[in-house]
Amino acid sequence: MPSLKTEYLGLKLKNPVIAGSSDLTAHLPTLEKLEEAGVGAVVIKSLFEEEVHLKSLKQEAELHKNINLNAEFQSTFPQIRYSGPKEHMFWVKKSVETLSIPVIASLHAILEESWIDYAQRLEDLGVRAIELNLHTAPYNWDKSGSEIEKEQIELLQKLRKKTALPLSVKITPFYSNLFHFLKEVDQIGLEGIVLFNKPFFEDINIDTEENRFTPVYNKSQDIRLPLYFTGLVSGSLKTPLCAAQGIQRSSDIIKLLLVGAACVQVTSVIYQKGIVFLPELIQGISAWMDDKGYGKIGDFRGKLNRENNQDSLSFSRSQYIKMLMQSSDDLMSQLLI
Ligand SMILES: Cc1cc2nc3c(=O)[nH]c(=O)nc-3n(C[C@H](O)[C@H](O)[C@H](O)COP(=O)(O)O)c2cc1C
Repeated sequence: MPSLKTEYLGLKLKNPVIAGSSDLTAHLPTLEKLEEAGVGAVVIKSLFEEEVHLKSLKQEAELHKNINLNAEFQSTFPQIRYSGPKEHMFWVKKSVETLSIPVIASLHAILEESWIDYAQRLEDLGVRAIELNLHTAPYNWDKSGSEIEKEQIELLQKLRKKTALPLSVKITPFYSNLFHFLKEVDQIGLEGIVLFNKPFFEDINIDTEENRFTPVYNKSQDIRLPLYFTGLVSGSLKTPLCAAQGIQRSSDIIKLLLVGAACVQVTSVIYQKGIVFLPELIQGISAWMDDKGYGKIGDFRGKLNRENNQDSLSFSRSQYIKMLMQSSDDLMSQLLI
């Protein structure tokens, strides 16, 4: 039986499959089921600063609306409107106490002080690491891309100094030069980089003529993006990489390990196929390793990244052009039939 053990965030994981941050990791019963299904670790649903503010505002409005009725309630719980992220912290602590697999917190704040404050509070709860979710939807006509990147790098440097816990950063692919940004992140000395976060874009309901946000689940072809970039950078960065996006099958995980990922995160597939599918997903990695005669992940991890195999994927421009020429030839021959 091959060993699926891997190391990520300075943690020893029993296998490389991590349940990514989502509503599935926001409740203790589902977290317990994920553990039972065999995942190597869980990333708790992000603590979003916006949500904290929204909750406080709602609570405040509620308290003022019922000012007379709630006089006793307010004197009993005078701090309630400042409870802020306490609710989140409460169940994160519960999860840490209940689960035996590593619990990784996830944080997305707005203000620098909040990033630092929340990170330190999460650290106190006993989580094993924190994933810093840098996802933003910048709608800013005045700041250049390099200014935004500089701010992000400075924030990561500060968090590195203020937190003793292993830290990872989860990013989207939307950087004008992702390689330069990754090089800068690599110098900060974080313990992990997640390639990539899934940005959600709004849709429109044409009946009500309103905007709406509905989750769209990734498909297997979406692994091409993390596959390509992980393969290009894994041999050049010292920070371990965790690949995410589109993982639906064991073969997707094997491909990402072959190009150098230390582990993967899965979310959409759990929504689509259920937690019950996870043992099969993990087992498929062992079966392939058995078939190939690999005893441990280190025997093949990174075998097909750019550093170890220049021809393994369409890494170079000439390969890319060759592929495009090939498809236009195919198209022409179909049209001429
Ligand atoms: C419904 C849903 C909720 C999510 N919530 C979060 C979140 O709170 N924080 C976060 O960092 N990522 C969140 N994600 C992104 C996932 O953690 C994951 O990175 C992404 O979905 C890509 O992996 P997948 O293709 O397996 O879904 C969410 C994804 C989905 C589908």
